[in-house]
Amino acid sequence: MAFLADSLARIKPSATIAVTNKARELKAAGRDVIGLGAGEPDFDTPENIKEAGIRAIREGKTKYTAVDGIPELKAAIAAKFKRENNLTYAPNQITVGTGGKQVLYNALMATLNPGDEVIIPAPYWVSYPEIVALAGATPVEVVGPQESGYKIAPSALEAAITPKTKWLILNSPSNPTGAGYTRAELRAIADVLLRHPHVWIMTDDMYEHLVFDGFEFSTIAEVEPRLYDRTLTVNGVSKAYAMTGWRIGYAGGPAHLIKAIGTIQSQSTSNPSSISQWAAVEALNGPQDFIATNREVFRKRRDLVVSMLNQAKGIVCPNPEGAFYVFPSCAGTIGLTSAGGASITDDESFVTALLEEEGVAVVQGSAFGLAPHFRISYATSTEALEEACTRIQRFCGNLR
Ligand SMILES: Cc1ncc(COP(=O)(O)O)c(C=O)c1O
Repeated sequence: MAFLADSLARIKPSATIAVTNKARELKAAGRDVIGLGAGEPDFDTPENIKEAGIRAIREGKTKYTAVDGIPELKAAIAAKFKRENNLTYAPNQITVGTGGKQVLYNALMATLNPGDEVIIPAPYWVSYPEIVALAGATPVEVVGPQESGYKIAPSALEAAITPKTKWLILNSPSNPTGAGYTRAELRAIADVLLRHPHVWIMTDDMYEHLVFDGFEFSTIAEVEPRLYDRTLTVNGVSKAYAMTGWRIGYAGGPAHLIKAIGTIQSQSTSNPSSISQWAAVEALNGPQDFIATNREVFRKRRDLVVSMLNQAKGIVCPNPEGAFYVFPSCAGTIGLTSAGGASITDDESFVTALLEEEGVAVVQGSAFGLAPHFRISYATSTEALEEACTRIQRFCGNLR
């Protein structure tokens, strides 16, 4: 009898975490490595939010809480949904988890049976297909090609829907591409979904606040209120509030689904950290002005990275609407040989040679479902980005 569960054979470890670990190892061994693999802001959590966490500890708010969130945080989340998304959710329609990742995980675990299909636009965040597979269901990829700004065509969505489709996962702005769906594009997606009432929508709005050049963020339940009853609107404080380590994510959705998510959570982690929940109350209710300041820093970095990458031989880098990622194509480098003698046969050999020869850690596009590409997270200092892009230019310039 095998010791490990069969379900483990269906999934693989996160490629982004693997790259980050490899970069960390090389650094520890004394190599000069610039890590552009991790998806977290380099900014510190704002002081008022940290203070709220410290206050919670001092005031003894350190005990178990309601499994799916303290009432104060649910109220702050309801106010956020109303204020920013024009969505009304009652407290029993809101769940709080240990990061958006846990909320997405619990929602999929609570709803998927073997044989169910989940439509995942590619390129996708690495965890979606893995969680779906862990639940015993089948991920169905629909590719949004580079020529379409990495967004899926409504006709492609329609063609992928079968009687077994349970969910469509939307993620805008996207990890890994930064692509953001406009209101009109979501409208067209919604029109398809209205024709298929058995399909639910899980929208991952984690990068809502990181949009540039006047792009207006929209979320599908607001664009089409007739989809409200079958949409789970997922969000969190990790990215916008530089709170990745605090582990707070949340969702709004139909009460029966929210209850099922809570049931799963009650038999695994129980409540998210009480201290982090109080810090998240302050994040959502407190001053929001630093978000715009951070956004501007990210925009400048995006401009720098896009411009420098497009000057690298064989690289084509579109200008994304949001998040803190770019997802250039390295198709023009395939078939060439690096200065160090490595054959570039695909995006994986490209990123491996880049790390070994120039000490720049990026993640291969194949991990996100589209090759030959690679993802750069530009949530790191401008100096490091400049140096990293100079090295990428040199690496590509030396390919023969
Ligand atoms: C698209 C997307 N969704 C969800 C998450 C999960 O974020 P967290 O669990 O920190 O809330 C991430 C983090 O990288 C992400 O990129």
